[in-house]
Amino acid sequence: MRLSGKVAVVTGGAQGIGRSICETFEREGAKVVAVDMQKAEFESENITGYALNVTDRTEIEAFFKFMMDEYGKIDVLVNNAGITRDALIHKMSEDMWDLVIDVNLKGVFNMAQVIGPQMMEQGSGSIINIASVVGEYGNVGQTNYAATKAGVIGMAKTWAKEFARKGAAVRVNSVAPGYVNTEMMKTVPDKVLDPIREKTMLGRLGEPQEIANACLFLASDESSFITGHNLSVNGGLRL
Ligand SMILES: NC(=O)c1ccc[n+]([C@@H]2O[C@H](COP(=O)([O-])OP(=O)(O)OC[C@H]3O[C@@H](n4cnc5c(N)ncnc54)[C@H](O)[C@@H]3O)[C@@H](O)[C@H]2O)c1
Repeated sequence: MRLSGKVAVVTGGAQGIGRSICETFEREGAKVVAVDMQKAEFESENITGYALNVTDRTEIEAFFKFMMDEYGKIDVLVNNAGITRDALIHKMSEDMWDLVIDVNLKGVFNMAQVIGPQMMEQGSGSIINIASVVGEYGNVGQTNYAATKAGVIGMAKTWAKEFARKGAAVRVNSVAPGYVNTEMMKTVPDKVLDPIREKTMLGRLGEPQEIANACLFLASDESSFITGHNLSVNGGLRL
């Protein structure tokens, strides 16, 4: 098993890509804590749901204490929680901008600010920020979302440098999915998705498991010499 003995935290773990990451890590031997707005239920006793809003710093401090009391360490952090509030820039309200920045960008900052130093103290760890192809090449109607997804790639590269100081083997990478079949995609009409399928070399959307597989590689010791990397998992949508 590729994550035996490891403790992993996955934000947005209740559904979609996050849930698939939780279940994949668990199958590979990790103890997993799935953080989400509401406490999620799982069949395996090795996945624990925990209600936490990644924008709430007080809740995050309490969560960190819970992790240390219950598990004593955190080996893997996947910053996966994310939302969209789409509109062309001239129609994008300040609230739409603020909300997406708060969850997708500041939420990632909040979690890493608390957990990164703990990993440095432990001497090892792997942080994975879930970005998006939209952060790599932009998208009409997603000024806020593109800004956050480009931002989490930049933060991963920065933390790859910061958290590896003092001899700590803390690796930080990002994964940039293309379009993946989840609840988030249900808000996107077929007239938008059909041309995306056509432009994707593999001719289809991705599945959550295919993103989870990339995260598994970056979480495991198989990627022990990979840090500061952005791994595009998009079926060839952006070459
Ligand atoms: N689905 C895609 O095609 C796609 C493509 C590229 C990137 N992504 C990214 O992958 C990640 C997961 O996407 P998904 O499609 O599984 O989304 P989803 O909407 O199915 O799941 C997101 C989860 O995040 C949780 N969440 C939202 N705000 C939160 C907060 N403040 N605190 C804690 N949890 C919160 C939600 O409750 C939900 O369970 C997101 O970061 C998304 O931007 C998705």
